[in-house]
Amino acid sequence: MPPTLYSEEQIAERVAVLAAQIDEEYAGAGQLVLIGVLKGSFIFLSDLARKLTIPHRIEFIAVSSYGDRESETADSVRLLMDVRHAIDGEHVLLVEDIVDTGHTIAYLKRLLGTRNPASLKTATLLHKPDRTEQEVAIDFLGFTIPDVWVVGYGLDYAERYRTLPYIGELPPEMR
Ligand code: PRP
Repeated sequence: MPPTLYSEEQIAERVAVLAAQIDEEYAGAGQLVLIGVLKGSFIFLSDLARKLTIPHRIEFIAVSSYGDRESETADSVRLLMDVRHAIDGEHVLLVEDIVDTGHTIAYLKRLLGTRNPASLKTATLLHKPDRTEQEVAIDFLGFTIPDVWVVGYGLDYAERYRTLPYIGELPPEMR
């Protein structure tokens, strides 16, 4: 199994802190809409949402990138599945497992921003600043990580390791 970067306990502690920050930010704001970006965010979203005490509802959105990620550009992100309900006038929090180049979150902020939400913020468990190609504000951040391949807790390598309970660093010989 890949060596541990963040243990289940470390993740749970951090997720609880993020949930408390989100509770505070949106206190009294009415219902928050959490939009999980499939597939990677599903575990983080489910843990985070269950720690929130503010009213919220859950939506999912799915995107993919064209071709290989090395040649990715902002225009290469495409929508595979949209949210089910309108978000106009609502407070929206996009929930990601990882922000890497920033293209996915930038695309989603642009897309959802056109729908007149009351507010639109982002939460991500992991951020790899060394890989940034598009700067996007991250409002709630779990961990800043170096440019290593991470798996587990929703993150996959060719669909493997996604349900590892911890975040592991996948060494080259395991790819
Ligand atoms: C990952 C991750 C983000 C995106 C971040 O998804 O879940 O959505 O990449 O990368 P970026 O900042 O360079 O755009 P992936 O394409 O691996 O799909 P998956 O979540 O379905 O595994």
